[in-house]
Amino acid sequence: MTILVTGCAGFIGFHLARVLLERGERVVGFDNLNAYYDPALKAARLAILEQQPGFAFVRGDLADQAAVLALAEMHPAIDRIVHLGAQAGVRYAERDPFAYAEANLKGQVTVLELARRLPRLSHVLYASSSSVYGGNGKVPFAETDAVERPLNLYAASKRGAELIAQAYAHLHGLPCTGLRFFTVYGPWGRPDMAYFSFAEAIAAGRPITVYADGVLKRDFTWIEDIVAGLIGALDAGPAVAARPEEPGGAPHRLYNLGNHRAEPVERLVSLLERALGRAAIRETAPKPRADAPETFADIRRAAEDFGFAPTTTLEEGIPRFVAWFRAWKGL
Ligand SMILES: NC(=O)c1ccc[n+]([C@@H]2O[C@H](COP(=O)([O-])OP(=O)(O)OC[C@H]3O[C@@H](n4cnc5c(N)ncnc54)[C@H](O)[C@@H]3O)[C@@H](O)[C@H]2O)c1
Repeated sequence: MTILVTGCAGFIGFHLARVLLERGERVVGFDNLNAYYDPALKAARLAILEQQPGFAFVRGDLADQAAVLALAEMHPAIDRIVHLGAQAGVRYAERDPFAYAEANLKGQVTVLELARRLPRLSHVLYASSSSVYGGNGKVPFAETDAVERPLNLYAASKRGAELIAQAYAHLHGLPCTGLRFFTVYGPWGRPDMAYFSFAEAIAAGRPITVYADGVLKRDFTWIEDIVAGLIGALDAGPAVAARPEEPGGAPHRLYNLGNHRAEPVERLVSLLERALGRAAIRETAPKPRADAPETFADIRRAAEDFGFAPTTTLEEGIPRFVAWFRAWKGL
């Protein structure tokens, strides 16, 4: 396989690319290395990938049509795309809404247009998010649930990207698989996410802001379980996309990739305290309008179609994250 991984310097893209390279695949990585969070972390991830002979990196912006389409001439052997590059984060949209329109909506179109121009392309996998379920009260969230009420622009852009993929699958027969990730955490993770920013604050003796007294629930999913799911979907091939939502429909299928456990945020905080050996200073604030009260994945579809079976509990994962965090921060 020759796999284009967009967002390869990002948290999930880095881990996926590393595993693919280790098993001997060729990986073309694409990323703009933007400064949404510490670019040193992206540079360090990229430096690890660049040590592998099967890796080629192209720096570019997903919204730059010419830069993305040029990949078809530069790397015509690409036969799979795993599109993970995006503007992530639910609250940053208040500061830069256009970043979501550019990276997540225009970026989805440029990547799918590239896919049409690659002669050997068989399958496009792309990242979606549990946030498409909005504030749905029915849990666990299943792929057949309604997703018409996003709580924030990030969620709206991810749902929009799913609909764009549906249109391409319908019009061009392009096999597309969308993966709705649920709160992914682990080593080399994202500093803008609560588990990471809480760890930084607790380690430094700074207060943390816990919304709604920590009763919000998240389905925290360990990065290696997510990578196993991505590889499962990649290896199952376009056949997974070819099981459409409706008989005779377009070759596009959506999957939840979560841990199938909804944990209160307060539980995350106590596990971080235990692993860091320091008490958190908690400040509470009401739930922001952009945040979902709960996320909880029904993962039966991914289990049935490509054997997805996450194994890592939050109790196991948080100490492993903290071990990496201490090394990264030199603590
Ligand atoms: N981490 C999670 O919990 C989670 C949950 C749900 C969905 N997702 C989705 O999974 C994917 C990967 O997320 P992640 O956690 O690795 O995030 P990340 O921010 O670490 O990685 C995204 C990468 O994309 C790159 N990028 C952003 N905008 C770009 C642009 N316009 N052009 C080129 N590159 C660009 C960034 O530089 C970054 O390296 C994203 O699509 C995200 O929305 C993540």
